[in-house]
Amino acid sequence: MTARAGIILAAGQGTRMKSAKPKVMHEIAHLPILGHVIAAMKGAGIERIVVVTAPGADAVRAFATGLGAECVVQDQQLGTGHAAACAAPLLKDFPGVLIVSYGDMPLVTARTFEESFAAREQAGMAIVAFHSESKAYGRVIVDNGYLYRIVEYKDADEHQRAVKLCNAGIMAAEAKAFFQWAAKLENNNAQKEFYLTDIPAFARADGVNCAVVEAEEREMMGVNSRAELAACEAVMQERLRAKLLNDGVGMTAPETVYLAHDTVIEADAQIGPYVVFGPGVTVRGGAQIKSHSHLEGAEVGKGALVGPYARLRPGAVLEEDVHIGNFVEVKKARIEKGAKANHLTYIGDARVGAGANVGAGTITCNYDGFDKHFTDIGAGAFIGSDTALVAPVKIGDGVITAAGSVITKDVDADALAVARGEQKQIAGWAAKFRARKTAEKAAKKK
Ligand code: UD1
Ligand code: MG
Repeated sequence: MTARAGIILAAGQGTRMKSAKPKVMHEIAHLPILGHVIAAMKGAGIERIVVVTAPGADAVRAFATGLGAECVVQDQQLGTGHAAACAAPLLKDFPGVLIVSYGDMPLVTARTFEESFAAREQAGMAIVAFHSESKAYGRVIVDNGYLYRIVEYKDADEHQRAVKLCNAGIMAAEAKAFFQWAAKLENNNAQKEFYLTDIPAFARADGVNCAVVEAEEREMMGVNSRAELAACEAVMQERLRAKLLNDGVGMTAPETVYLAHDTVIEADAQIGPYVVFGPGVTVRGGAQIKSHSHLEGAEVGKGALVGPYARLRPGAVLEEDVHIGNFVEVKKARIEKGAKANHLTYIGDARVGAGANVGAGTITCNYDGFDKHFTDIGAGAFIGSDTALVAPVKIGDGVITAAGSVITKDVDADALAVARGEQKQIAGWAAKFRARKTAEKAAKKK
């Protein structure tokens, strides 16, 4: 296969987002927009990815390099063609083909990049276009089956504006030729910018045809505002859900389930309505996540039951057949096979041994205001309701703690731990109290 490189243009200001955060760092399904574009490029076998950033966009640079991309800075935003040309120092001698893509198209797929490469191989160059009623896009003028030119809406005449075929902003070309054409760009247009879209005309002058690959408007949606970000999110959520349903995941009301880009759910898991997945969640087959549960950074084992109204936070690992019920929060804790915490509980920085039962209202007191401490609950232990486990503390296998206990010391296996005030009984006190109060009330009324 010919070597493949990618250039992602991400130096634009994104002013319409009205945000201190660079546009491409806004998230869709818990992954920055730029991450989606990089993932699609990797999916299309692109081995070198160069992201063009604005000066000082440290967050963008850190994120991109973290994903194995390289970065170049475009000092002044002189247009999309100028931005692409900024990658020349890194790629002008690249021995293969490249694709230029805008950094604000989170829904772009690897398949569209693949199709662009394939079309380029046939024609010499390729761009991606879609049909749209929107006025925002450059018009794609086709002649004899190939691209004739792209005219920016602002530069277009009436006839050109009537064309509904729009430029997506993806261009595939042979790398060396691309940078030779990019060096020739001029800015004599309505916006006084160096347009990427003028490149196909230079190619044509050199006898290189440009194919037009058609894609769906939905996939080519760009993010310029918060509303567009939300619209892209909705499309991405639909895509993620459709994939899971197709893979055999049960969902009672898919349209209410919110997924992250990396959510892994195995076939035959069942997801109830209004379940929210943050990043880093794996749910194994046969598990059930009931309605209104919120999961992030967690692993749910085979056959486990979670929710309704459960919260699994990062580091929560539920082994097979574990039950985590309503208003139970689990953080950084391993709940071993078959253990249960069914109601109103906080388990953080802990291990709950196999088959243990954690009663309603149990709290692992893991934080002293400075450090976190570990609670270790042995297999088969029975933690009575409303037990406070003051960490660090170790509860042996088979221990029973009495309801309402505040456990501050380790408990040996199979012992009963009781740590609460002893109960006293004062005979007749309640009846005397009522009699006195009733008399007082009657006296006041007179
Ligand atoms: C561009 C296309 C238009 C296409 C539309 C699709 C050009 C001249 N026009 O228009 O044909 O229909 O996108 O959405 O290419 N950028 C830089 N540096 C710059 C300018 C832009 O990195 O100097 C980046 C932006 O961050 C953005 C992308 O390039 O990711 C597109 O720029 P934008 O200004 O949004 O182009 P449009 O006017 O929308
Ligand atoms: Mg744009």
